[in-house]
Amino acid sequence: MEHLINIKSLSTDDINKICNRASEFEKGIRRSNHINRHIANMFFENSTRTKLSFEMAENRISANKYNFDAGTSSINKGEDIYDTINNLSAIGINAVVLRHESNTLINELKEKTYYNTISFVNAGSGSSAHPTQALLDYYTIKKHFLDLKDKIIAITGDIVHSRVAKSNIELLKKFNAKIRCIAPIQFQDETLEGIDYYEDINKGFENADIVMALRIQRERIAEKIDFDEYINNYQITKDNLPYNALLMHPGPVNKDIEIKSDVLSMQNAKTILKQAENGVYIRMAILDMILSSYGI
Ligand code: CP
Repeated sequence: MEHLINIKSLSTDDINKICNRASEFEKGIRRSNHINRHIANMFFENSTRTKLSFEMAENRISANKYNFDAGTSSINKGEDIYDTINNLSAIGINAVVLRHESNTLINELKEKTYYNTISFVNAGSGSSAHPTQALLDYYTIKKHFLDLKDKIIAITGDIVHSRVAKSNIELLKKFNAKIRCIAPIQFQDETLEGIDYYEDINKGFENADIVMALRIQRERIAEKIDFDEYINNYQITKDNLPYNALLMHPGPVNKDIEIKSDVLSMQNAKTILKQAENGVYIRMAILDMILSSYGI
């Protein structure tokens, strides 16, 4: 593996290989030492989980990490990002972990030729893709379900602006899960194929094995949002959450908007911090596979 840009480029075999390697890291039966490799973390959008778990993963595979601060970088003096990456490559950076508001920039960056070979890992691109989140979600789900075929996964919230939803749907379809998108029309993405749309949360949650909740992405929405109406019709509560369903959320949770606070202390919601923990193992596995492709 040279880059990780999206889920589309991965086969089910690739996904299982990443998860197997993550499991080896989790169990402590694999150790890696990438002391001669150098990773730049470039976050142009806010992050807590993804940024810190990449940093943790980089430390745990003994790679050298460099946190690029866009606010104090020469991008503020007018340097474009292509020249910036070319200079990082010349300095000796082997891999860039990028979070950016653009849906397409990471693909465009990957297609360029740089001073030295450089790998790109997508840590969230606009509203289009968040592949490491989908992989860690799958890794978390697989600890509860051996096979996803015909399992009902109810995704609810601001689907249209959610890169997490897009990457999860792409991945879960590869494993023949039944995917339902439950949201008001303004948050549905009608371009998505191979899923069922629901406006009614109770119908959408019927017999669901997993409920994936999403945050309303205020930063990507220009128009006024009627939060009271959303809460009345779509908030996850103790009453509408199926008894045995796993409750997942990529974070950050906006408590008492998409999920009522008291739901977060239920057994169903224990998965949410497990997702954060599993993100470290998945990111160790991905970086280890990419850095190993450079040889010793
Ligand atoms: N899940 C996720 O991407 O969280 P952060 O925005 O905190 O990284």
